Amino acid sequence: MDQARQWIADANAVAILTGAGISAESGVPTFRGDGGLWREYRAEDLATPAAFARDPKLVWEWYDWRRGIIAQAVPNAAHRALVQLEIRKPQFTLITQNVDGLHDLAGNGKILKLHGDIWRMRCTECGANFPNRRVPLPKVPPHCACGAMARPGVVWFGEPLPEGIMQEAEHAAGGAEVFLVIGTSAVVYPAASLIPYAKQAGAKVIEINPELTAATSIVDCALQGPAGEILPQLL
Ligand code: OAD
Repeated sequence: MDQARQWIADANAVAILTGAGISAESGVPTFRGDGGLWREYRAEDLATPAAFARDPKLVWEWYDWRRGIIAQAVPNAAHRALVQLEIRKPQFTLITQNVDGLHDLAGNGKILKLHGDIWRMRCTECGANFPNRRVPLPKVPPHCACGAMARPGVVWFGEPLPEGIMQEAEHAAGGAEVFLVIGTSAVVYPAASLIPYAKQAGAKVIEINPELTAATSIVDCALQGPAGEILPQLL
């Protein structure tokens, strides 16, 4: 912990990768592990273009349920600590796999949302991309103003990430002196590839997670515990 604290204190350029675990203490369920199931479905069975084509109502019911939970959630001490870090560091990039919007709500500035945003929708026909915060949705599936069905504004398994975002994330990871990996199981690609990428580019990589993950063996320092407790101590 002391060594990691020193690395962060000395760094001008910091990049961060967050996953569902950073929002766990805000009451948002993670995808894998305890509480990761919805009805009898796994996220991997619902968050796909094929699942949506087969049963858009089912997929939208899952998103509507998640939006309902997230709408009640507020940022926790870990989200808040990252706002303080952004204020302190001349070069700071927050890269998240989360779609919950809690980093925005906490007050971070620019956020690279690799997997999109649950508070946006996209039209399946005209391509319109628009915000929508209705909870619960009055009608499932929801529709675009053009009359066609809308889909969640998130990235599904097998879909490309938003144009150019991986290049921006790699640029930040490659230039970082410290790379923090918080609350991710590090099994979903390409997001997880940023960890070895940062390491090879020379960053000190610090992981915060109560469990061992796919990344633990390659990081410079693994701090085991909940992000809301560890991060404020670290900064
Ligand atoms: P996962 O659900 O795979 O992993 C959550 C991680 O958070 C686990 O490693 C937990 O040990 C850890 N965790 C739990 N509580 C924590 C706490 N209080 N503090 C810190 N860590 C904690 O979530 P992700 O790795 O984010 O993608 O999942 C990656 C992607 O898979 C998601 O973005 C989503 C999902 O399917 C898409 O929807 C495309």
